[in-house]
Amino acid sequence: MHRRLIVPSALAAAFLLAIPASAADFSPGAPGIGDPYYPASGNGGYDVSHYDLRLKYQPKTDLLEGTATLIATAKQDLSRFNLDFGLKVSEVRVNGKKATFKASGTQELEITPATPLPKGAPAAIVVKYAGKPSELKINDWTAWARTPDGAVAAQEPDSAVWWFPSNDHPLDKATYDVSVQVPNDVQAISNGVLQSTRPVGKDWTRYSWRSNKPQASYLTTLAVGKFDITTDKTADGLPVLNAYSKDLGDNAGSARASIERTTEVAEWLTELYGPYPFNALGGYVPNVTSGFALETQTRPFYSPRQFANGSNVSVVVHELAHQWYGDSVSVHGWKDIWVNEGFARYSQWLWSEKEGEASAQELADYVYASHPADDPFWTVKPGDPGAENQFDIAVYDRGALALQALRNEVGDDVFFELLKGWPAKYKYGNAKVGDFVRYAEEVSGKPLASLFDTWLYQPTRPGAPAAAKAEVLRAPGAGKLAQPKGWKKIAATNSIHEHGHDH
Ligand code: TRP
Ligand code: ZN
Repeated sequence: MHRRLIVPSALAAAFLLAIPASAADFSPGAPGIGDPYYPASGNGGYDVSHYDLRLKYQPKTDLLEGTATLIATAKQDLSRFNLDFGLKVSEVRVNGKKATFKASGTQELEITPATPLPKGAPAAIVVKYAGKPSELKINDWTAWARTPDGAVAAQEPDSAVWWFPSNDHPLDKATYDVSVQVPNDVQAISNGVLQSTRPVGKDWTRYSWRSNKPQASYLTTLAVGKFDITTDKTADGLPVLNAYSKDLGDNAGSARASIERTTEVAEWLTELYGPYPFNALGGYVPNVTSGFALETQTRPFYSPRQFANGSNVSVVVHELAHQWYGDSVSVHGWKDIWVNEGFARYSQWLWSEKEGEASAQELADYVYASHPADDPFWTVKPGDPGAENQFDIAVYDRGALALQALRNEVGDDVFFELLKGWPAKYKYGNAKVGDFVRYAEEVSGKPLASLFDTWLYQPTRPGAPAAAKAEVLRAPGAGKLAQPKGWKKIAATNSIHEHGHDH
């Protein structure tokens, strides 16, 4: 097709802008961003660059009141658009003017601005709301956990819907200011740097946090409760802030003995994966009863149960590795979960190796041997596990086996070059499993499609990897390999996910 290049003069451009576009040219943004695993997640038609959340939370009643201001840009001529949100909204403004809005389904808020938004137009969207997040019924699980002294928002693949309106998908990342007013006897913890703590009247305090690098909505977290807080600075001058519920009982010491090693672990990961991508570090342990951990950006969330058998630095390694693999470089769609979990799990293997416990190869041999050929473990394809198996143990363990196979194929030099180059190549962005395969082929100069196909996409147990010293494959009595040292702690990171989602 032949196209003419029209170079618009400033005058012509001004003239075009002055013509009110007919309403017929404008259309609604899609109610989902197009993720086949979660069709309702995210929305089409606009892109958010910043969230300002100004909230007030009362633990006694679970009442959350707030004003969310979203700075966005229309990506099409937009007559209306959706946000993902569950709580009750009282007012919406777009660029200062009241907009009409209606809730639809369990998590969609349809907004019709008074004036349609032309493609490229900036939009300041203000949403005022109030409600009790614990009363929401979005699906069969909840992202809002009340604790004896407060509450926590931390879930995957989404948690935002329970507490702030958003374009709820990792494809649309943004920076965040989260400012929360809470009663004086509790604190509010969120991502990034604590900017200020200010009294509000005599009974309340406002905590203001800032996370200044692109952040996915599910990695935005809030915890309200009674915390012991430790602070420090890294050698590079980044603030470190850890928060431990005052109510951790027997687990308090082991939690601290693990999470206080955050700076040390991050330094080790920096050698492996390149510069730490964010403006702060830390971790927090609220007094929840769940058993999982989550890589909430700059400040992972840990459950007390992670530390119930003594300290566990391995889980800290897992969540910090996600800061590079998962948070800075995020999934393109949720089927790409291997680019998060395969690498976070493999990082635990590398830590074990460096600590002089089991080597990655020994751990790989053990995983391989522990799952006989007819184990359903091998039916899960880490490269596209399906929404129901997104966090199956196979995504982690078979996902890490794929990396061990790659290491054996390309050798240590190239392998570690690959691990360091990836977070730089896709920094603050999104990537697909296929992007990693292509990238590994480019850097190594080797054809790797069939290796990745075998380990990530076949619903069967791969044959013995050529270079692996999988003893068990040779020895009769396969499956009886001794448990490697440190295995339990590695497995404990996500043991609760072994049989699917822990919701
Ligand atoms: N990504 C989390 C981790 O690295 C695990 C996880 C999966 C999770 N699903 C979750 C955590 C749901 C909290 C809620 O360890
Ligand atoms: Zn993980």
